[in-house]
Amino acid sequence: VLAAFRELQAEGWIEAACNITRVSGTPPKDRLDRGRARPDRLGFELPTPPSPALDPALVSEPVPPGTLVFNTGQPDLRLLPIPLLARAYGRALRTRALLSYGDPKGEPRFRAALAGLLSGVRGLAAQADRLLVTGGSQMGLDLVARTLLRPGDRVAVENPGYAPAWVAFRAAGAVLVPVPVDEGGLCVDALAAELERGPLRAVYCTPQHQFPTTVTLEAARRQRLLELAEAGRFAVIEDDYDFEFPFDGSVMLPLAGMDTAGVVVYLGTLSKVLAPGLRLGFATGPAPFLDAVALHRRAADRQGGQVQERAVAELIEDGELQRHVRKMFRTYLARRDALAEALREHLDGVVDFRLPGGGMSLWVRVDPAVDLDAWTARALDRGVAFERACQFEFHGRPLQALRMGFASLQEDELREGVRRMKEAL
Ligand SMILES: Cc1ncc(COP(=O)(O)O)c(C=O)c1O
Repeated sequence: VLAAFRELQAEGWIEAACNITRVSGTPPKDRLDRGRARPDRLGFELPTPPSPALDPALVSEPVPPGTLVFNTGQPDLRLLPIPLLARAYGRALRTRALLSYGDPKGEPRFRAALAGLLSGVRGLAAQADRLLVTGGSQMGLDLVARTLLRPGDRVAVENPGYAPAWVAFRAAGAVLVPVPVDEGGLCVDALAAELERGPLRAVYCTPQHQFPTTVTLEAARRQRLLELAEAGRFAVIEDDYDFEFPFDGSVMLPLAGMDTAGVVVYLGTLSKVLAPGLRLGFATGPAPFLDAVALHRRAADRQGGQVQERAVAELIEDGELQRHVRKMFRTYLARRDALAEALREHLDGVVDFRLPGGGMSLWVRVDPAVDLDAWTARALDRGVAFERACQFEFHGRPLQALRMGFASLQEDELREGVRRMKEAL
């Protein structure tokens, strides 16, 4: 009883004086307020407009359970080597130093492992101290934008292109300049014409498999792009998001590997080879630039998750990640072919596509007579979802195409998905 009284007194509900205890004349306000809903009203100034630039690009609507989803190109999480990852996590977690503060550029063993992987696979002579670990490419884009851009800077982007990158650039105040894409990738002539109109601070591109069209940037255009960047002193932000699956064997090395002028900022991710939910990516580029990016990383969240970075470092050191990629390569290649075959069988004459040399998606053109919105809605009723291309068009204009990721569905699911698409059509 005494303990209860002391508690009530400490909280201000009762007052005790001279052996008399009374209910407090002024009960504690915050206690009475507790249980009331927090106000929706804003009690401070929010800068207006609240960044329309941060429009959530490419957020897919939730779909009913059982729907077969052709996403924009994500890996099959059912095939992840979870036990290996869990064991590596366990070991890393027992390394107490990793639970402390560390290097904002990333866990040293992870950076060393990544550097080895990049020079072996991507022909990028990246040393560990020239790598900065990011929370996926998206954080990389945001950090690069914060470091590089000032309000009003012009940044050229591919059209159609990757809207989440546009969001990051716009949030930093950039004025975006859309540049068309054709069968040879980014139209570098059109880019040169834009340069005549005014200087650019950066060009954002996806040279390996252009997002969303999957085309590879031609060798001559690569060279010209680098020359323009050197002459115009602008940065080339190279987003190399799905390099690991070059199915036709004709590997074009990254622009960063050809850069002698210090103009390329290269972004990579483990979202495709492992899982997007891990949020692991990296950036490399000229040393002074990377040092400046590290300051922004430190300001944003000080450092990455060292336990996770060490765990994945071990998977790379043991060759497990590389084994997983080799396995996925065979699986995804078979899936690409299964999707292509199903499209030819069920939707011949309605769709047209070119097999991409690599990556995890097909770019599928659709007969102009088809009402894409109506097809999408009916398809959803029949349990299949796919991504319309208009969301990748800079001005939101209609584009009669789909981007169909094939990596996350099994071959029979891909066939069933296309069968449902036909039924919906
Ligand atoms: C063009 C492009 N860049 C980057 C990414 C990967 O993003 P993150 O590393 O942030 O998961 C994707 C994923 O779909 C992409 O399509």
